[in-house]
Amino acid sequence: MMKEFPLNGMNIDGINKKLEDYGDKDIKNSKGRLFTYFYDPGIPELNDLDKLFLTFSKRNGMDYHAFPSTLKIENDVTAMMLSLLHSDNGSGTFTTGGTESIILAMKSARDTFLENYSGIPEVIVPVTGHPSFGKAAEYLGLKIKRIGVDSNYRADPEELKNAINEKTAMIVASAPAFPYGIMDNIKEFSEIASDHNIWMHVDACVGGMILPFLKKLGSNIPDYDFKLPGVSSISVDLHKYGFTPKGSSVILYKNEKLREHQIYVNAGWPGYPMSNAGIQATKSAGPLAGSWAVLNYLGFNGYTSLAKKTLDAYKKISNGIEKTGYKITGKPDATIFAFQDDNSDIFETGVELIDRGWYPQIQPSNTALKLPSTVHLNISPVHVEVADEFLETISDIHNNVSNNKIKRTEFNKKSSAEDLLKLIKAHPEDKTLFYHILNQIDSKTGEEIFKKITDEDFTASKN
Ligand SMILES: Cc1ncc(COP(=O)(O)O)c(C=O)c1O
Repeated sequence: MMKEFPLNGMNIDGINKKLEDYGDKDIKNSKGRLFTYFYDPGIPELNDLDKLFLTFSKRNGMDYHAFPSTLKIENDVTAMMLSLLHSDNGSGTFTTGGTESIILAMKSARDTFLENYSGIPEVIVPVTGHPSFGKAAEYLGLKIKRIGVDSNYRADPEELKNAINEKTAMIVASAPAFPYGIMDNIKEFSEIASDHNIWMHVDACVGGMILPFLKKLGSNIPDYDFKLPGVSSISVDLHKYGFTPKGSSVILYKNEKLREHQIYVNAGWPGYPMSNAGIQATKSAGPLAGSWAVLNYLGFNGYTSLAKKTLDAYKKISNGIEKTGYKITGKPDATIFAFQDDNSDIFETGVELIDRGWYPQIQPSNTALKLPSTVHLNISPVHVEVADEFLETISDIHNNVSNNKIKRTEFNKKSSAEDLLKLIKAHPEDKTLFYHILNQIDSKTGEEIFKKITDEDFTASKN
């Protein structure tokens, strides 16, 4: 616990020990235990590339005249990604992650739209679209209009048509959407975008580095990339199925003109003339060099064989889960999926998995959206090795979870955010209370509780 700025420095052993102690309770990715946050190719040799990450992290990509390697590496990475997604004359930028890629695409679309419109532009996003669109809208002063999904959880083209008006600056589709791993009706969306001459963004943050290889393996993947003429921009995270270091994504544009508004320049202050393609000014080249290294180490064939392992693990795990008695949500398109339980409490299953050392995402729903509560798994190549063990665990949980049921804490759905937060804190033994509350109250109050929790967690010297 540190309450004040240290007067004297600590020795190296002390620093190592302290940070290792801090990391004691972090979930460790040994033996494929994580089904989220970490995409594990199971290739120990990739760790040999970490030293490149460290070397290049000391170079500043903000000034590519001083560090010309950073420009060469970035142009290589974006060219590789544009060719993978079937663009001949597109452009792109390396970013810190999906959220930055999405913020930049929305800024480019907004400023292009504002060339001919004054007022608050709107962005149409399916309810399954990632929250980073909402975050970008808050940052950029845009309005998000959410549209629903059809019976297979794909964004509904009819709802899209009804939602479009003269304020629409951008429409969004996901390839696939994170919650259930299901792709939107991207071809129909791109046709609607072309008909209305509206910017269309495809969020392939989670899918962009697995879909091309699943397609090569013969999976039935509908078109989602620059092959479709209506697609203006695509976000792809390399730090997900690209297996590159955290802090790496690309935003890609159909042509250079569309990227124009993304670039910020300032040559009018008394300091150095500054130009930034993305949000950062000073920019560590570590994730960039780390990404170049992994993309080149694996190549198309390497990624295809990893996709094969991922697909094998996905089939085995999802079939096994279904046989156990859970229901897979919709018909997932790639290797990400969610499952639900119509007879028992899926939150208990999720928490029980975590208690037994596995780490899925627990996804409370929102009754207003009529979407189910689920447990979500992202499958990695390494899961092939632990599929049997995982299925034994899930079967045991399914057979026992209803017997283990703890007494559910009662709560009043109409209570204030403050009172609900007090209740959650007063019942640490009820590990699923937070999810149940989120599931049953309006999302505005839910968000208020969540903001308070986050604010309190990040209080200096709280440790
Ligand atoms: C579909 C999708 N879009 C955007 C994001 C945001 O990416 P990041 O966490 O890298 O900012 C995610 C993250 O899971 C995602 O799955």
